[in-house]
Amino acid sequence: MSNESLANLLKEERRFGPSAELAAAANVTAEAYEQAKADRLGFWAEQARRLTWATEPTETLDWSNPPFAKWFADGKLNVAYNCVDRHVEAGNGERVAIHFEGEPGDSRAITYAELKDEVSRAAHALTELGVEKGDRVAVYLPMIPEAVIAMLACARIGAAHSVVFGGFSADAIAARIKDADAKVVITADGGYRRGKPSALKPAVDEAVGRVEGVQKVLVVQRTKQDVAWTEGRDVWWHEITRKQSTEHTPEAFDAEHPLFILYTSGTTGKPKGILHTSGGYLTQTAYTHHAVFDLKPETDVYWCTADVGWVTGHSYITYGPLANGATQVMYEGTPDTPHQGRFWEIVQKYGVTILYTAPTAIRTFMKWGDDIPAKFDLSSLRVLGSVGEPINPEAWMWYRKNIGADKCPIVDTWWQTETGAMMISPLPGVTETKPGSAQRALPGIAATVVDDEANEVPDGGGGYLVLTEPWPSMLRTIWGDDQRFIDTYWSRFQDRYFAGDGAKKDEDGDIWLLGRVDDVMLVSGHNISTTEVESALVSHPSVAEAAVVGAADETTGQAIVAFVILRGTANAEDEGLVADLRNHVGATLGPIAKPKRVLPVAELPKTRSGKIMRRLLRDVAENRELGDVTTLTDSSVMELIQSRLPAAP
Ligand code: WT7
Repeated sequence: MSNESLANLLKEERRFGPSAELAAAANVTAEAYEQAKADRLGFWAEQARRLTWATEPTETLDWSNPPFAKWFADGKLNVAYNCVDRHVEAGNGERVAIHFEGEPGDSRAITYAELKDEVSRAAHALTELGVEKGDRVAVYLPMIPEAVIAMLACARIGAAHSVVFGGFSADAIAARIKDADAKVVITADGGYRRGKPSALKPAVDEAVGRVEGVQKVLVVQRTKQDVAWTEGRDVWWHEITRKQSTEHTPEAFDAEHPLFILYTSGTTGKPKGILHTSGGYLTQTAYTHHAVFDLKPETDVYWCTADVGWVTGHSYITYGPLANGATQVMYEGTPDTPHQGRFWEIVQKYGVTILYTAPTAIRTFMKWGDDIPAKFDLSSLRVLGSVGEPINPEAWMWYRKNIGADKCPIVDTWWQTETGAMMISPLPGVTETKPGSAQRALPGIAATVVDDEANEVPDGGGGYLVLTEPWPSMLRTIWGDDQRFIDTYWSRFQDRYFAGDGAKKDEDGDIWLLGRVDDVMLVSGHNISTTEVESALVSHPSVAEAAVVGAADETTGQAIVAFVILRGTANAEDEGLVADLRNHVGATLGPIAKPKRVLPVAELPKTRSGKIMRRLLRDVAENRELGDVTTLTDSSVMELIQSRLPAAP
């Protein structure tokens, strides 16, 4: 990104410091940065002591064969024991681990003592089905407690899980089963989605029929809908777990024992099986969950709205919170079922104190209107988190005002499936936050921004985000493909992890994420980030959401095309509004960033994890046939957008 255009972009001057009350009682103070800077490995060795080890590690990092890291390599532990049993042994068995809220309104509170029994039974059941240490188990479940129980049962017996998001197709399941060579699949008859039962097992039946090697399919009964049954292969979860003992002795595994594989879809090529291991992963998820959310396990009620099928669910529903003995809410359904206030009703019902959600959800709530959250008592909230994409400053402000009553700190957490845990984020009791910026690498983490030649950019400069030191929860490789691991992450810049995100540093040295590098546009020789133009559009009172792409253009190389969703009463046919929006971007970011076309649409194409699929919008903007739409949440969205389009000028 050229500095001249950067100077125009994102002049964000609002600042919000932590309240004196929160700062005084915060789990982590500014001293942590100093301590970690003085002795990074010593800092992580100390964090590893949050866990209970069967054999304490004496070695912190082995980086003798980069980029293949080993953390705490001579230590041994059982991850499930750390997430469950030890809390019971410490006398907290009666504490609620999971407040489950089903979409139809059924609910279930599971204490740590009950969770221990359930995980133990499931571990025995997997063993009975032939699963052994070192095997892989695929998990394809709705957002129900059995998803967490299944993951922990695998961890308990040393089998790696490969969770496949419940919205994916038979093709995606088959590809993942095959790549990981999974022996058992855990699924359910179905789950509830938008007010009705939605089947899951047929996709598994189809997938398993296409690949070799799956011996058993374990089926949770959730909706009680009819399912096809393969005798000898299919087993009901409730039938097999019911007869198992609640006593199960956890075996200690090496810190580097595989914990899970999680596939990232990526934009090109076959999905990458990101491999995470045990000790380092659990250390960093536990530490960050403690530090970034300021979690007080005795009093907080934590809620992460992600699905366990994504890394956010792995690290901040299953592993981090449970390692910390947190009480959390788990919700099965969508935010608008049965009404658009469902999330706020849940916050009120359970007295949620820490909420972790995504910008895409926040922008949707903005679009639905301020009056909806205003009907509920949200006064229990004290820390708000964001993850998944850059958060537009206006969405950040909306979140703070309408959900956080202008008092809750917002932690905008940057990380990836590959990083395993949070890497860049404010600390709620320390950081003076800036709307739209993830700001600073967490204690013990080393991140910076470099230019094309790998030179670190000065404050005020922009380029590529890189991580310059190994971290405990880093991916260890791409499953079965070490070379691809090296090529994808460690070859663009020597000795540095290439994250694939554009970023800039502001005058204070704080980091602003600008989206994937593939989403940077080149307009008349200027690099302009889609994120910044989108944020400028969202800062206009008539715009709820925006997606910007660069479309090939004869004169300027690329031209900026913006797709916008209007707020409440704004009229899509209003020509004056379109001109107004173009001028608004010009005034905010500079004339170079003014979109050539602004197209009001009703919906935007998103992946199931909520990321806008700009690739498809680029196809539309360039009048091309659409590329692969199979990872869209709703493929009819594209037809809708195309039908609304005027012919290209
Ligand atoms: C990509 C990773 C991290 C768990 C969920 C997504 C984007 C994520 C932020 C943020 C700006 C963000 C990046 C990153 N991203 N969080 N706070 N600010 N961008 O995991 O699917 O592996 O995606 O999400 O582009 O590279 P993922």
